[in-house]
Amino acid sequence: MSVVTASGATYKNIEEFWAKHKTAAWLDATEKYYSNQDATVAGMLGGLEDSVRDDIPRSLKFIQRLHTKGIIPSLPVPRGLDCGAGVGRVTKALMLKVAKEVHMLEPCQRFLDSSIELVGSDAVTQRYCATFTSFDPPKDACYDIIWIQWAIGYITDAEMHGVLTKLRASLSETGVLIIKDNTTSNSSYFLDDDDNFLIRPAIAVKRHATNAGFKLADHAVETRPGLYPVHVWAFVAEG
Ligand SMILES: C[S@@+](CC[C@H](N)C(=O)[O-])C[C@H]1O[C@@H](n2cnc3c(N)ncnc32)[C@H](O)[C@@H]1O
Repeated sequence: MSVVTASGATYKNIEEFWAKHKTAAWLDATEKYYSNQDATVAGMLGGLEDSVRDDIPRSLKFIQRLHTKGIIPSLPVPRGLDCGAGVGRVTKALMLKVAKEVHMLEPCQRFLDSSIELVGSDAVTQRYCATFTSFDPPKDACYDIIWIQWAIGYITDAEMHGVLTKLRASLSETGVLIIKDNTTSNSSYFLDDDDNFLIRPAIAVKRHATNAGFKLADHAVETRPGLYPVHVWAFVAEG
């Protein structure tokens, strides 16, 4: 599978791409990008709020479907974690509707600070200022829903196994990991090198989760004119 970048570089395959993109420096572009973004919902969505207006209603429907299928036994669940939470767009409109208590994980302190007013709920009981890799889940985490939206592309392939394994271990017995993200519609990867966000083919995201001990419980695809297809995967721990 080839890799194409927004700045016009191409790589024969993902191995050649990672050989040129050192993991240690990977976050620099992301940090720089977000240091220039407003701490608002518009800043999180890069000006695409109108195009993704249906995002939250579709996510709520997906969660309801997981409940109807028995994958989420009861709603609201006791505790959820919103990863790459930004200013709390998903926390406010989705997580707090389906979980009694929500934790946020986000590396930008400025976004977390803004979320206090933007979300405005005491049910957000933790705001972890950390990246996926530096996050150390509390021993008693026991998350019933972990939601990762428009953020999986910031995790390198080398980090993926460690991050997903750690998150799996912090799920409750009936916990669900939900990844919602852009995918390429063909078999190649696309790097947005403005912020070092790697859009993967759906098959690659699923493979990372399977390698980390998850099995697919449910899946949906959202399409919007002119935008990448958004896949929503619900994974549960295997075995
Ligand atoms: C496109 S925004 C999405 C925010 C939110 N999930 C939403 O859908 O509104 C991506 C978020 O991921 C965060 N992020 C970037 N790199 C990250 C990393 N390595 N670990 C965790 N979060 C990261 C950014 O700071 C930003 O808040």
